[in-house]
Amino acid sequence: MLYKGIVNRYFDYLPLEHKSNIVTLCEGDTPLIKADRLKEEIGCKADIYLKYEGLNPTGSFKDRGMTMAISKAKEDNAKSVICASTGNTSAAAAAYAAKAKMKAYVLIPEGKIALGKLSQAMMHGAKVIQILGNFDDALNMVKHVADNHPVTLVNSLNPFRIEGQKTAAFEICDALDRAPDFHFLPVGNAGNIRAYWKGYKEYKGHGKSDSLPKMMGFQAEGAAPIVLGHIVKNPETVATAIRIGNPASWKEAEAARDESGGVIEMLSDDEIISAYKLVARTEGIFCEPASAASIAGVIKKVKLGGVFSDGDIAVCTLTGHGLKDPDNAIKVSPKPETINADDNELLKALQL
Ligand code: F0G
Repeated sequence: MLYKGIVNRYFDYLPLEHKSNIVTLCEGDTPLIKADRLKEEIGCKADIYLKYEGLNPTGSFKDRGMTMAISKAKEDNAKSVICASTGNTSAAAAAYAAKAKMKAYVLIPEGKIALGKLSQAMMHGAKVIQILGNFDDALNMVKHVADNHPVTLVNSLNPFRIEGQKTAAFEICDALDRAPDFHFLPVGNAGNIRAYWKGYKEYKGHGKSDSLPKMMGFQAEGAAPIVLGHIVKNPETVATAIRIGNPASWKEAEAARDESGGVIEMLSDDEIISAYKLVARTEGIFCEPASAASIAGVIKKVKLGGVFSDGDIAVCTLTGHGLKDPDNAIKVSPKPETINADDNELLKALQL
């Protein structure tokens, strides 16, 4: 049967009135990939599965929330949407608004979003405004606009975004035929950890799974407000997607951590980049730097010891595709060699 996206697939679990209002790019149904090489490389007792959300239509998990938010906006006859973004939300908002024949306005921190994401928002015809400030400033600004003007906010403060994103937890339980023991993911504005936890709890409530995972969230050291317990005024990290100092779902992220018996911890940029390279080189999976925080989190726990047992299942969400951020990929990789079109030079370069 033709796949029609997550709202259609999980319609009974989502608060949309009419299927006719669904705006979809056929997001979701992303693969859950068993990462045995990675497991062996890092000496992890648990089986590791990667939920490769980079394979969504705009290349990140944001499509799950956006199909729901835009479908609901259509149901409410909205004509335009607005968001602040570190890049991926703006790409998804722009694409789904285009599909819905709505106008999208997106605010991004100037110079701090990955090139692929900027190109997407521009290509899909959004009005792109760069702020001489950070994501937190941009989010405050769009909240003020949406409070006072007829434009729908599609940041994760919009509850329908969370509803859509929770379907990733459903898919994982459906694929494994159970819930995992641990769920690792990066934390930025904290909507996703909140959404997964909601999804796991609801699916268990519906009798679709018997247990709940420990939610293992990871922030970057320079942007770790939840770990530090205070707002970070000038967040900094190579993982620009999670360069956020005052997350909107702060309290809900703490609740997910505490109710599940999980953690929210921080990682250095070096740890994130080394996991980013490792997953690309062992599993053939290219994710963006922020996404690799989930794998860096597993590595940290393996090093600590005593966390995983044989037979445990740990799922890592790889939130966005590596092609979003070619600049960082090129920066951390060996440069290609240039030679003349000459067989001997080639043999010398190959060092077979
Ligand atoms: N990974 C990627 C690739 C992201 O783009 C984001 C958030 C996160 C992780 C963190 O998820 O915010 O739900 O905790 N990106 C937002 C954006 C902020 O504007 O695209 P979160």
